Parts: sequence; structure tokens; C-alpha cells
Amino acid sequence: MKIAVASDHGGYELKEKIKQHLIERGHEVTDVGTYSTTSVSYVDFGHQACEKINDGLCERAILVCGTGIGMSVVANKHKGIRAALCTNTFMVDMARRHNDANVLVLGARVLAIPYAIMLVDIFMSEPFDGGRHQERLNQITKLEEKICD
Ligand code: RB5
Repeated sequence: MKIAVASDHGGYELKEKIKQHLIERGHEVTDVGTYSTTSVSYVDFGHQACEKINDGLCERAILVCGTGIGMSVVANKHKGIRAALCTNTFMVDMARRHNDANVLVLGARVLAIPYAIMLVDIFMSEPFDGGRHQERLNQITKLEEKICD
């Protein structure tokens, strides 16, 4: 799968581990930064990763900041982006099966690295259930069309 990864300084180390893990699993990873632990704003990096999806260059993205909160706020401002900030396996499972989340957001200061990698694996493998959940996503799309430019 083609996947974008992004972080701020707080998420840099975890983003690097996730990137390495995804490459080892055969995924095509686009890393939009940041590329060091120098303090930066999560806004630009989260935005760039979501644009990769909306430009059709990536199917999904994984965003990491300290808590995951800033990145999830930014990501969910984008039309067509369904970003899920998850802290446990149940949340990731539901984010894929019920919400068809195309962006996973993780807090590097919240999760241990091996646990975060486990969440990534669920995000990458769990399918969308469709059915009544698709109807709800259609409602979201209609809402986006109504309230976004
Ligand atoms: C950076 O210090 C921190 O604010 C950021 O990584 C994130 O947690 C924001 O939501």
C-alpha cells in the first residue's frame, strides 16, 4: 500500500520506527517530515500528509505528534479524511471496521513504541465492514459538501 507518514519533533522517533516497519512489510512509504527532533509545528506536516491522500498519491497516512491531538485536529479539517486518534487495539479495529479511517493518528508521548507498531499493523490489515457504516460515511460526505468550500 502507498502510505504517507508525518510527525512533528515530538513524534519524530516513533514516525521513524513506523516508517522502517512499513518498508520492511513491503509498503511504499512517503515521508513528508519532519526529519529531526528540532521543534516544529505539527500543522504543516499533518497537512502535507493529508494532501498526499487527497492528491491521489497515497491511500492512507499515519501521523504522529506528542499526544496525537494536534495532528488529528489538523487531519480532520481535510475533506475526505477520516482520521482516528487511537490509543488501543479496540479503537484501531473499530476505526477501520466502522469508520473506514484512512488516517491513523498516534501520540508518541502516550504509547510505547512496540504497542504503537502493533496498532499500525491492525490499521494496515483490518478491512472496512461496509453496510450500515457506509451509509454513515455517505452522510459525512454530504455534510462535508454542505459545510466545506
Ligand atoms: C509538541 O510539544 C506537542 O504540542 C505536539 O507534539 C502535540 O502533542 C500537539 O498536539
